[in-house]
Amino acid sequence: MVEPFAAVDVIKAKRDRRALSPQQIDWVVDAYTRGVVADEQMSALAMAILLNGMTDEEIVRWTTAMIGTGTRMDFSSVPRPTVDKHSTGGVGDKITLPLVPVVVACGAAVPQLSGRGLGHTGGTLDKLESIPGWRASLSNDEMMAALREVGGVICGAGAELAPADKKLYALRDVTGTVESIPLIASSIMSKKIAEGADGLVLDVKTGSGAFTTDPAQSRILAETMVRIGNDAGVTTRALITAMDVPLGLAVGNALEVTESVEVLAGGGPADVVELTVLFAREMLNLAGIVDADPAETLKDGSAMDVWRRMVRAQGGDPDAPLLTAREHEVVHATVDGVVTKMDAMGVGVASWRLGAGRARQQDPVSAGAGILLHAKPGDEVVAGQPLLTLFTDDEDRFEGAKEALTGAVQVGPVGTPIYRLPLVIDRIT
Ligand code: URA
Repeated sequence: MVEPFAAVDVIKAKRDRRALSPQQIDWVVDAYTRGVVADEQMSALAMAILLNGMTDEEIVRWTTAMIGTGTRMDFSSVPRPTVDKHSTGGVGDKITLPLVPVVVACGAAVPQLSGRGLGHTGGTLDKLESIPGWRASLSNDEMMAALREVGGVICGAGAELAPADKKLYALRDVTGTVESIPLIASSIMSKKIAEGADGLVLDVKTGSGAFTTDPAQSRILAETMVRIGNDAGVTTRALITAMDVPLGLAVGNALEVTESVEVLAGGGPADVVELTVLFAREMLNLAGIVDADPAETLKDGSAMDVWRRMVRAQGGDPDAPLLTAREHEVVHATVDGVVTKMDAMGVGVASWRLGAGRARQQDPVSAGAGILLHAKPGDEVVAGQPLLTLFTDDEDRFEGAKEALTGAVQVGPVGTPIYRLPLVIDRIT
């Protein structure tokens, strides 16, 4: 086959701040997936995109080209409206776990293709795998059967879903080119559009524990993704939410499943419940379901019933005890006062160092490792009171975790002003 372009010309165009033509974009994405454009050429192009950006037209075309390298799923045989949610990721962000059963209990279907964690943020599949027997990997037929019979499924994406993104994301990870809004937006949206739900609600996190730490950047990312989704015929909305402090009181795989089950049982931390109900309302609204009350499904047990059916449909035992870590250590307050800081990034890195996260895609994670928070910013504490409990399978890991927490958790005199982002910062439609 004669290639219509040379990779070096495409790289030079972006290096020199010119917009790529639709034909150049279609070709370079496809040729990279075929192995014709080499990793070093795509690295140079990704860096040029990171430095010089892309126009809206380029971003939409890049996303479409990535979708075109694989297959799109088709849920037209599912007898309910399909709607999905995606979070850009954060520390203690387990919202998907209670959210999917709530939305299903209210009448929509949720096909959720999730990922694994890399770095300080956890992955939904890693969390669910702490349930004995639960399987992330489903065939298309199994996924469709779970959707028809239960209404909700959370599983890993197959190799045929936007393969260009799989290859490019791994390359960006090792070339310092993850933090580009056009590349993040097209990466997330290519997978979500290929997944084929009718509607999509995005949770774009902002703050120290998020991809974009500055609310203005998060807003640009949210607006870009909403535009891409709507352009592709998937009705898309975004909420920009706080990730300066971990969500809830549990960080780590099994610990977060336990907290999610508490929420499904009608309890759980207020911030996790609030976000679950808020996102459920947004998703149901997109699905055209106006007469359901998501908060009620947490109180009356109907969301819990769906959760149990979802876990069983994927081979898990909802009654089995979750794996726990072998060792634990409590961090105490050393003075009386008020918690002034509980930095999401510091807690996320500490949890990761305890074994809850992975450094490389192929590394295993510990189900029981993580951190329980006993206080959050604004809570008054006395000297000697537990602030955090650290869990790990390997006691040599405590030292590194405590180092990451130095300065990340602070107690000051009562009355010290506390700066926290509001839980929900903005809504983009
Ligand atoms: N998540 C993705 O799927 N892609 C990115 O580029 C960043 C986060």
